[in-house]
Amino acid sequence: MQTVTLIPGDGIGPEITEAVVYILKAAGAQIEWDVQSAGADVIEIEGTPLPDRVIDSIKKNKVALKAPVTTPIGKGFRSVNVQLRKALDLYANLRPCKNIEGIKTKFNNVDLVIVRENTEDLYAGIERQIDEETAESIKIITKKASLRIAEFAFNYAVKNNRKTVHAVSKANICKLTDGLFLNCTREISQKYPQIEYKEILVDNLCMQLVQNPEKFDVLVLPNLYGDIVSDLCAGLIGGLGVAQGANIGLQAAVFEPVHGSAPDIKGQNKANPTALLLSAIEMLKYIGQNATAQKIENALFKTIKEEKVITPDLNGNALTIEFTKEIIKNLPL
Ligand code: NAI
Repeated sequence: MQTVTLIPGDGIGPEITEAVVYILKAAGAQIEWDVQSAGADVIEIEGTPLPDRVIDSIKKNKVALKAPVTTPIGKGFRSVNVQLRKALDLYANLRPCKNIEGIKTKFNNVDLVIVRENTEDLYAGIERQIDEETAESIKIITKKASLRIAEFAFNYAVKNNRKTVHAVSKANICKLTDGLFLNCTREISQKYPQIEYKEILVDNLCMQLVQNPEKFDVLVLPNLYGDIVSDLCAGLIGGLGVAQGANIGLQAAVFEPVHGSAPDIKGQNKANPTALLLSAIEMLKYIGQNATAQKIENALFKTIKEEKVITPDLNGNALTIEFTKEIIKNLPL
């Protein structure tokens, strides 16, 4: 039995968390959940959307499954996600993007992995108002963070039989910052002669991704480009409802979907739990419960492929609970 921190989040978070916990239990996952609330709903009681107890729990358990959390706009709170990544030094954001059979998209041969640097760039939050008409945000890129994210990307490529790593930048404009990033990816690429190393500018990448996504394998990017390109790639495989992610560091790993708390569909029982379920499947593999992970993945893909009981974002009309029960029905006995 493994103890895992569970953050149900807010918005659609609790609905999709309930679905995923239900499916993992039915599949026989050996997990004891350490449930930790965070986000908009705890601010009134605890004065912060990310109380220390949440971070302490993840530090203790070393693994967490996290549903989305709303960041209140303009209330002085930093994003829970950014804070969490920083507090636990979860420096690598891993977002595999692969077509799922049964989900109709413009392309059927997408199979790429985004490795996004998670701790610096414009997300360092160093901003100031210079005067009433001017504001400034500072982009931080360090050698230390760039070398380790490059190492992570190449190491991932080798371990997962990938062929190519593209380093993505805007080094033609951000000559010093993105230039430093590229120097680091080049340096690390020398250690991995078995992996083809290429460089591409982020604007060109976006154009090519929406024309020929099959040309890409592993992408390594600084934080901001990684964030934007992740949503673009989620769109390539069927949208935010099916895009999974993981934040990985040396001490802990937090598995979470790419999407946010979707306040527009909160409480309507129509959110798609697939992205959180795929994140949970990756988490099961990470903690060594591979057979259970495979079982759930097969049942999920079968349910989607059959197209009978799927949620509205996938052009179906099933409720979250109906979709959940169908996945459980499709689990092998
Ligand atoms: P969002 O991802 O919550 O929603 C964008 C659109 O996708 C909406 O129309 C929503 O209904 C739909 N959608 C998202 N997930 C879905 C699902 N599982 N099933 C069906 N439809 C789904 O992005 P938005 O509206 O920009 O952000 C809302 C809040 O979420 C903000 O406060 C933001 O800060 C937060 N957020 C949190 C993240 C996290 O906790 N990791 C990540 C991104 C945003």
